[in-house]
Amino acid sequence: MSSFGTTRLKLPDLQEQLQSRLDVVREELARIIAAEFPVIAEVNSHLLRMQGKLFRPTMALLADEATGGPTPRVERLAAVVELIHVATLVHDDSVDHSVLRRGMPTINAAFSHQVSVIMGDYLYSRAVIELVGLEDLEPLRVLSRVTNEMTIGEMRQLLAYDPLEFTEEDYDLLIRAKTASLLSGACEVGALRAAPEIRGALRDFGMHLGMAFQIIDDLLDYTEEEAVTGKRSGSDLREHKVTLPLIYALPRINADERARVEVLMKAAEPTDGQIAGVVAAVTRVGGLDYARSRAQALGADAELLLELLPPTPAREALSASVSYVLERRS
Ligand code: IPE
Ligand code: IPE
Ligand code: MG
Ligand code: MG
Repeated sequence: MSSFGTTRLKLPDLQEQLQSRLDVVREELARIIAAEFPVIAEVNSHLLRMQGKLFRPTMALLADEATGGPTPRVERLAAVVELIHVATLVHDDSVDHSVLRRGMPTINAAFSHQVSVIMGDYLYSRAVIELVGLEDLEPLRVLSRVTNEMTIGEMRQLLAYDPLEFTEEDYDLLIRAKTASLLSGACEVGALRAAPEIRGALRDFGMHLGMAFQIIDDLLDYTEEEAVTGKRSGSDLREHKVTLPLIYALPRINADERARVEVLMKAAEPTDGQIAGVVAAVTRVGGLDYARSRAQALGADAELLLELLPPTPAREALSASVSYVLERRS
């Protein structure tokens, strides 16, 4: 029986047993990015004040504990995983022109787009230096592949602006590359010492979990308030980004609703009213329900893979992380 109860699962519940290891991850992260150079130091301190949920390091530590850990050096790997995530967010917010992240101004808003581009590169290269310092080719192999895949994902996103062209298959490829690859890598670097089939199961677990994570992120963009997510709601439609709820809805909405979508997609700065109109149409034909059910199916696939692991409290926490991803609101 699960010890995580039946009420809405919060991430801090999952992280409770990992507090001291997560503290090490935070310290390692601050150490890895530290710089003397004025602007870099200022951006670093802004980034360190913008605390994220540390979901990816949490997955790395749980994968480690589910495969015979705790292994002390996994905290350094978990910090590198978070660093790659942060670097991607710095670039993503600049590309998306987002102004709010984790309830605080983004780097592009607080500094500039130029600073964001350079800082993203700075953070990535710090991640590489740290991995090379470990003198172990395996985590470098995993995380360099993931980082490259994420750039392909972000590029797919740029090309995804025509709603008439973008299919669910395209969307799946996109979310695998831009989000799931890193969660997969996080789980895999926690399981590097495990037998190949266990390592593979955790890699695939992270991939399914990561796809569910991004589908829910895209759903929250339709449904949640800024005060809850720490990000501006309706941003995807405002940026003309087509995600799963709209992909499902497009062939099902009526001519009037379709006209609204087309107007929004042509508007340089869609209004709140235009966004609300499209959200209503998508909701009416079941786009939000469909996205949620796909995330649930991916979550179920992820859980099945955990059966290959020996039963431990960490395996139970990995399984609970699936519920967290499906139930989260921020
Ligand atoms: C945001 O990830 C980017 C996506 C992949 C959707 P998180 O929701 O984990 O963001 P932080 O790290 O907690 O801010
Ligand atoms: C996920 O894409 C970000 C990355 C994986 C880099 P989004 O653009 O949907 O993420 P948010 O909504 O800005 O966090
Ligand atoms: Mg974004
Ligand atoms: Mg989003």
